[in-house]
Amino acid sequence: MAEPIKVLVTGAAGQIAYSLLYSIAKGDVFGPKQPISLVLLDIQPMMEVLNGVVMELQDCALPLLSDVIPTADEALAFKDIDVAILVGAMPRREGMERKDLLAANVKIFKSQGIALNTYAKKTVKVVVVGNPANTNALIASRCAPTIPVENFSCLTRLDQNRAQAQVAAKLGISSESVERAIIWGNHSSTQFPDLAHATVTVNGKKSSALEAIKDDNWVQNDFIKTVQSRGGAVIKARKLSSAMSAAKAICDHMRDWWFGTGDRCVSMGVLSTGNPYGIAEGIMYSFPLTIGTDRSYKIVSGLNITDFAREKMDLTQNELIEERDMAVSICDG
Ligand code: NAD
Ligand code: LMR
Repeated sequence: MAEPIKVLVTGAAGQIAYSLLYSIAKGDVFGPKQPISLVLLDIQPMMEVLNGVVMELQDCALPLLSDVIPTADEALAFKDIDVAILVGAMPRREGMERKDLLAANVKIFKSQGIALNTYAKKTVKVVVVGNPANTNALIASRCAPTIPVENFSCLTRLDQNRAQAQVAAKLGISSESVERAIIWGNHSSTQFPDLAHATVTVNGKKSSALEAIKDDNWVQNDFIKTVQSRGGAVIKARKLSSAMSAAKAICDHMRDWWFGTGDRCVSMGVLSTGNPYGIAEGIMYSFPLTIGTDRSYKIVSGLNITDFAREKMDLTQNELIEERDMAVSICDG
């Protein structure tokens, strides 16, 4: 058996974590041969709830789970970790935009960025889930200058999964028959879910998604709006934000980062630095990526960007610039 890797999940007493921890602990993310030491961070008032989660993990009797460390202490939580899944933050309620959470949440990611910088392994892979996820990831990365910026990401895989599922339902096919659906920009209602480069396999035959769907009005209106507003629709119905689907998306994101994607293209929020699509530098922007077995990612280049797409890619970029400036002034203030 390999040495255990140390995986931190924050917000561990919350909703998403309750769906996520079992999948990680049973090997769905890091593979069936990789023992895991799970570190669970939440705030002090949640320690009793967190102890209940720890008891349940123990009662699952999972062979890969070498130990579980519940804590409210960042210094202990971030010590020597290999992976950080930063979920802990306030979720939005009905009627809010995700950026309305900036004031409440950005300070959490400042503090955790500093903790990453001080205590984590320099190879740590970080995914930020707590909203507004892109800008929180940016702040964490800025506060951790000794960790490579390429080790920071934010979750837009839930949006990608939502896009794939919408196309699959439209065509009556399985969601794995939908490839290269791309999420550009912010995990917010300005994100641009893009099918222009997507392919679908129908009755064993692969073709362009646009040709198979044959409904440009749906692609440019209903589809985009549904994916952009899906989080809000779930909150309206459940009175709570997406948790099961978010946990599934976190597993997809981290598994692909850990093992690589081959030729498959996935969307992840990463720091924009000199990218092929002219997106402003210094924001965490969701791009189509491929990931190597060495866990380094490359932005998929050479995609043709229409005027329609350009306008949408710029709109979500501009929102991220605005969020970044607000977040920096909150952090510095
Ligand atoms: P939740 O309220 O059920 O759980 C959040 C947990 O975080 C709570 O237990 C809380 O005590 C804890 N927490 C708060 N501050 C903390 C801190 N400083 N350190 C550690 N833990 C802390 O919320 P949830 O439904 O699990 O959602 C968590 C976050 O994920 C929200 O911000 C939500 O908007 C976001 N989210 C993002 C996506 C995405 O796709 N990026 C999807 C769904 C939800
Ligand atoms: C989601 O997309 O479901 C989450 O980001 C929660 C939210 O606020 O919409």
